[in-house]
Amino acid sequence: MSKQVFDVVVLGAGPGGYVAAIRAAQLGFKVACVDAWQNAQGGPAPGGTCTNVGCIPSKALLQSSEHFEQANHHFAEHGISATRVSMDVSRMLARKDEVVKQNNDGILYLFKKNKVTFFHGMGSFAAAHGEGYDIEVKGAKPATLQARQVIVACGSSARALPDLPFDEKTVLSNDGALRVGAVPKRLGVIGAGVIGLEMGSVWRRLGAEVTVLEALPEFLGAADEHIAKEALKVFAKQGLSIHLGVQIDTVKTTRKGVTLTYRNAKGEAQSLEVDKLIVSIGRAPNTQGLNAEAVGLKLDAKGAIEVDADCRTNLPGVWAVGDVVRGPMLAHKAEEEGVAVAERLAGQHGHVDMATIPWVIYTSPEIAWVGRTERQLKADGVAYRAGSFPFLANGRARALGDTTGMVKVLANAQTDELLGVHIIGPMASELIAEAVVAMSFRASAEDLARICHAHPTLSEATKEAALAVDKRALNF
Ligand code: FAD
Ligand code: NAI
Repeated sequence: MSKQVFDVVVLGAGPGGYVAAIRAAQLGFKVACVDAWQNAQGGPAPGGTCTNVGCIPSKALLQSSEHFEQANHHFAEHGISATRVSMDVSRMLARKDEVVKQNNDGILYLFKKNKVTFFHGMGSFAAAHGEGYDIEVKGAKPATLQARQVIVACGSSARALPDLPFDEKTVLSNDGALRVGAVPKRLGVIGAGVIGLEMGSVWRRLGAEVTVLEALPEFLGAADEHIAKEALKVFAKQGLSIHLGVQIDTVKTTRKGVTLTYRNAKGEAQSLEVDKLIVSIGRAPNTQGLNAEAVGLKLDAKGAIEVDADCRTNLPGVWAVGDVVRGPMLAHKAEEEGVAVAERLAGQHGHVDMATIPWVIYTSPEIAWVGRTERQLKADGVAYRAGSFPFLANGRARALGDTTGMVKVLANAQTDELLGVHIIGPMASELIAEAVVAMSFRASAEDLARICHAHPTLSEATKEAALAVDKRALNF
């Protein structure tokens, strides 16, 4: 088989890989992108975890289940009567699959448009030599590729509990959690992280009794304390039963479902029986299939590819981005790194500012933040001022009928520079963008407070929280 020679080969077509491939092609490189993901028919499904079993399908189900929740519990407030509201789970899942397919097809179209050559299959390092690297593609159409530059963007997979492999019928990873064919009566979730809360919310809204078991004594430790406290209160009110400081002892699958024994925060023995169990305890990098040893690519103790701040690996011309390297496992972080690497290849100064990467949890209410929390600022010894504003005092939130939560702004006590913005409430996922822009431009709280915000909008709560930093909120 003759080698096909490219300037750049990208391994993985998730948000890190496909975006890197497109940007490199825009910059004039001859680019190939290799991705192994298969759709139900065995065909290519570029987009990685994000498109196939992550960001996109989870948000589709969150939207469907939120409509159901609104129709059941909130339409009446608007004078709308909706009796005998029912959920056709198979239709909901079919819609989710259609959304996923639109995204898969969109990426294939973008590859064509940008002249990126796509290979469907598993890519691995075969050799390193004076001309760069040989990459072996195993799939329906095997191929050997050669390139001087390789960008590894192989992503991550769900971590299982020891001795409890995912069967995706009863013991579910994020994949199975997005394909449950009927609403389970009792759903267990191990891990109160982002997946546990989002997927737990989906099935709770549809009628499942959801119990979440979390090892850490603190809820949402990465979020600001006030926001996490408010979130725990609201989720409990909604009916999510969240147990913190839990130690799982045994998990047994039975004919009917799963039986767990665990110790609660007080050390008391407890048991739980559920029909389905989602295990969402974090993710592990996908480096097993790469044949990293063949070329001496260095991995860390957790199997992630070691990179410097610019995503350079230990090998000349080999780069790695996204979930397969250090840092938050977020699609937009992967994309930013992919673009920055492509630009570095072209001699440009690609840059990712890790300090302004936003976090969003798409529960209801949504939770979003950028920058540091109060606790982090205290630990860093930074003097700060805080201002917050509740959605209860925001006209648009009242009109929407969704007044849960607040915006909290943290600013440097001496310079007034924004250090963190934390939101729990309606459309927090969209509201956080303004804070990211402001922080990227190193704005002060006063800058945010003096910018004209349209009325009535939810974003006025951000302006008011910024005003509150200087104790001069107008509407609270
Ligand atoms: P991936 O998206 O994992 O893509 C890697 C691709 O490489 C895959 O297609 C894989 O098959 C392929 N691959 C692996 N090895 C090889 C090989 N040797 N050869 C060829 N191909 C290979 N992030 C957010 O920012 N927002 C969200 O709302 C969000 N929601 C999520 C919901 C869930 C349920 C999950 C699980 C994750 C979510 N994430 C979210 C995280 C997000 O999906 C990841 O951070 C993101 O997909 C990482 O992108 P990536 O390109 O690094 O890897
Ligand atoms: P996570 O890291 O968010 O949460 C895992 C939780 O499980 C932690 O709270 C941890 O303390 C707990 N845990 C670990 N081991 C445990 C055990 N043995 N028993 C009980 N609890 C245990 O990981 P998750 O939810 O699996 O998601 C993986 C990643 O995917 C996230 O970190 C995030 O980067 C990404 N993601 C992002 C989303 C978003 O941006 N909206 C949505 C979903 C996932």
